[in-house]
Amino acid sequence: MGVFDSGVGGLTVVASLRSRLPALDLVYLGDTARLPYGTKSAATVARYTHRNISFLLDRGVDGIVVACNSASAMALDTLAVSVPVWGVIEPGAAAAAACSVSRVGVIATEATVRSQAYPRALHRLRPELDVRAQPCPLLVPLVEEGWLDDEVTDRVLRRYLEPLLLWGMDTLVLGCTHYPLLEPAVRRVVGPAVTLVDSAAAVSARVAEDLATSGAEVTGSAGGRLELLVTDDSPAFARLAERILDESVRLHWVDTVPATAALMESLS
Ligand code: DGL
Repeated sequence: MGVFDSGVGGLTVVASLRSRLPALDLVYLGDTARLPYGTKSAATVARYTHRNISFLLDRGVDGIVVACNSASAMALDTLAVSVPVWGVIEPGAAAAAACSVSRVGVIATEATVRSQAYPRALHRLRPELDVRAQPCPLLVPLVEEGWLDDEVTDRVLRRYLEPLLLWGMDTLVLGCTHYPLLEPAVRRVVGPAVTLVDSAAAVSARVAEDLATSGAEVTGSAGGRLELLVTDDSPAFARLAERILDESVRLHWVDTVPATAALMESLS
């Protein structure tokens, strides 16, 4: 199974997949050379996404998880791929729709919010829900810096979340790969009454369910290999990867670019 994200955050999906399906072999691609995706246009993110998918297919994966919320929001609709592909938006929206009383807040990158992907997915499931999405561009850098349990991060979160709290949200979707790492900090700010939905956990549950339905053999209790590929060298990646996966990691530097020319042509 291939998993990709713009950077290290998608490893929250990998960690969740490994705890549900410990025998599943995974190839993870972190497109660190092009991070962040969350500030870029839909056309650019679609181009990167096609390139990453083509790269993973060349490595022989039999399914792909688009772990990046921004890529799932802006590029999933543009894909026609020969293997199953999972994005994070729909499973995250379904988890929120299943538990919200009436008001769902979504925090995400600017690109994901601009795409309206979460409100659309939530309204497809429950048209009566009120949904408000808040872009939080400062959160990814704070997580990359490792400031997960820090007064500065709490203040930034308070600034972003207070309008949603005043509005009366009962459920909050953590709509970015990095945000599950901030869950304790978010909880400190929103208090116990708001239900937090982690889109990484939601997509791994969906993948496990779909694999079981299709009869795929991933039932062992250990042994799944994990290959970690990055498009640029990054000490911050290694540091956070070890924190997320709770194991030491070895990164391989790869280049996804050779496939680009034809793909760009097909997109234009
Ligand atoms: N992976 C991105 C997402 O989930 C966050 C980091 C970025 O902006 O590339 O939206």
